[in-house]
Amino acid sequence: MERIASVEEVRQASRDARREGKLVGLVPTMGALHAGHLSLVEAARTRADVVVASVFVNPTQFGEGEDFEAYPRDRDGDLELLDAEGVDVAFTPSVDLMYPEEAGTAVRPGRLARRWCGVARPGHFEGVATVVAKLFGAVEPHLAFFGEKDYQQLLVIEALACDLLYPVTVGGGPIVREADGLAMSSRNAYLSDEERTAAVVLHGALATARQSVEAGETDARELERLMERAVATEGLVELEYAAVVDGATLEPAEAAGPGTRALVAARV
Ligand code: PAF
Repeated sequence: MERIASVEEVRQASRDARREGKLVGLVPTMGALHAGHLSLVEAARTRADVVVASVFVNPTQFGEGEDFEAYPRDRDGDLELLDAEGVDVAFTPSVDLMYPEEAGTAVRPGRLARRWCGVARPGHFEGVATVVAKLFGAVEPHLAFFGEKDYQQLLVIEALACDLLYPVTVGGGPIVREADGLAMSSRNAYLSDEERTAAVVLHGALATARQSVEAGETDARELERLMERAVATEGLVELEYAAVVDGATLEPAEAAGPGTRALVAARV
């Protein structure tokens, strides 16, 4: 695996591959890698000839008082994992490279970024869209892979690629869960044993909604109430939202059915 920290070099590596008729796949990450990230690498390896994985903790997507400083970092461990997974290029730019002092341009995502985490985390999706636009510009991938764990982020990035005319196909990978159902996330490392146990209620709430749909309940507000009630059973978990939405527009759905999604966000 090649490790590259400069935009010129990563772009050159990508262009060399393109010139040989190869498909370039990008897996953007903030590091502290887990099996969820590695499943995206696997998807990229299946669909692309050359896989670039970026490792960059993006400061602009963290709001004031959020965990930019504390965000788990394990550069050597990440590089080892990426190498073992068959990644061709690890792109590890510095903050100064991605955000030189004179850089003042940002990407403001549209309607998809306004609800849900857009309300709970003002400025978050602008930071995500800006860094992803920069990564697309640096790497010039044919394909890019993002996890469905951050479903709203995935849709915001699909819209970004479409609206800004990037010739890149954005793909989503399914959530990878721990044995007890908790979605894998680098931030799970923050949880104490007690919090880690409590956090499983997020999966429990979604499972309750799914079971209720399977039993014939389709009313979206009723399903949201069921998810809220499930989360409320855990005192350590503070719900941000539980919603049944249209899976393409993220607008609240009237009824659960094909194409709708249940979303839950909470702080533990
Ligand atoms: O999902 C993430 O890890 C980040 O938001 C991303 C897409 C790598 C942008 O920094």
